Amino acid sequence: MQKIFSSILALESFEASDLKVLLNSEGEQKKALFEKANEIKQSIIGNKVFFRGIIEYSNVCQKDCFYCGIRKSNKKIKRYTVSDPEVIDAALFAFKNRYGSIVLQSGEMTSPAFVERIENLLRQIRLLTNGQLGVTLSMGEQSEETYQRWKNAGAHRYLLRIESSNRQLYAQMHPNDAMHNFDRRLDCLKLLKKLGYQVGTGVMIGLPGQTIDNLVEDLLFMKELDIDMCGMGPYLEHEDTPMYEKREMLDSQKQRFDLALKMVATLRLLMKDINIAATTALQAIDPLGREKALKCGANIIMPNITPAKYRTDYKLYENKPCTDEAADDCLSCLDVRISLTGNKVGYGQWGDSQHFKNKKHL
Ligand code: 5AD
Ligand code: FES
Repeated sequence: MQKIFSSILALESFEASDLKVLLNSEGEQKKALFEKANEIKQSIIGNKVFFRGIIEYSNVCQKDCFYCGIRKSNKKIKRYTVSDPEVIDAALFAFKNRYGSIVLQSGEMTSPAFVERIENLLRQIRLLTNGQLGVTLSMGEQSEETYQRWKNAGAHRYLLRIESSNRQLYAQMHPNDAMHNFDRRLDCLKLLKKLGYQVGTGVMIGLPGQTIDNLVEDLLFMKELDIDMCGMGPYLEHEDTPMYEKREMLDSQKQRFDLALKMVATLRLLMKDINIAATTALQAIDPLGREKALKCGANIIMPNITPAKYRTDYKLYENKPCTDEAADDCLSCLDVRISLTGNKVGYGQWGDSQHFKNKKHL
């Protein structure tokens, strides 16, 4: 028997078929889904939105993912690495402006020099902020030793998107070699968990060939992995990547955006106490994209605090917003924008995942 929509919204545990109904919702049903997600967010997490000031540390990458603008084979971009003093300045900017946390994100590199630079930066940031600034890393697949060293140096959260939990789709999006291996990525996520990081993952939504069933699998994957944080957004085509050839297969950007919001809302129903980011890719399609996500379940926002001179070169996808704004320009309007969503900025707080804290008490 088919369940009625309102009874699905009220479920405590969801089957694949329920999630599919939610992702397929339109009109009044979609509105009810968004309202329910917001209600759960407000009652379980509260009305706080937490900042993660993101520093796009380097666009040098040793990998060659077919969708990504900073892939190794893209010879059209100027490669950069932010200097150590500039990273420290950006971290101190975040600290002084009471952002609470930063994210250091980079193209993937595994050289000993890179690992050591990050380790040193983490130690310096911890020292200069008395360990009061939360630090998330997003630096791809690394060895257990590297993850451990970075953890010892002060990182406590790690983002590593699975991109798609479907092996076939994953294989279609990546070169077929040891460096782009699904199982290796999964192992990294498990390692990060074992080492005690708060672990975040995520997927791209609206990929060529991706079905609603694939997205249902993605949600169940996140539940199964028992993640603490999620960042996911619409796939955006980039002209200088191989996947651009498949653009004819894509839904419109508006449809991908809508589906991404439904993924955020459905994940909030499925995992009530995790942190969910309102991602920049949403904003690339709709100027109010992040605010819309904050109204249907998301509770994290990642203002870009990369030194302005590097921003245009960190183009993972086209139309990436905020590439010409200074960090403080963003801050002054962000507060207002967030208030308009019925939320308040959790200034100076880490805003750790409730889910992670709840697990610790078990
Ligand atoms: N469209 C949307 N998201 C992308 N990312 C990389 N390339 C694209 C793209 N073309 C995302 C990936 C990666 C994160 C840093 O950026 O999910 O994990
Ligand atoms: Fe850099 Fe995918 S292209 S990790």
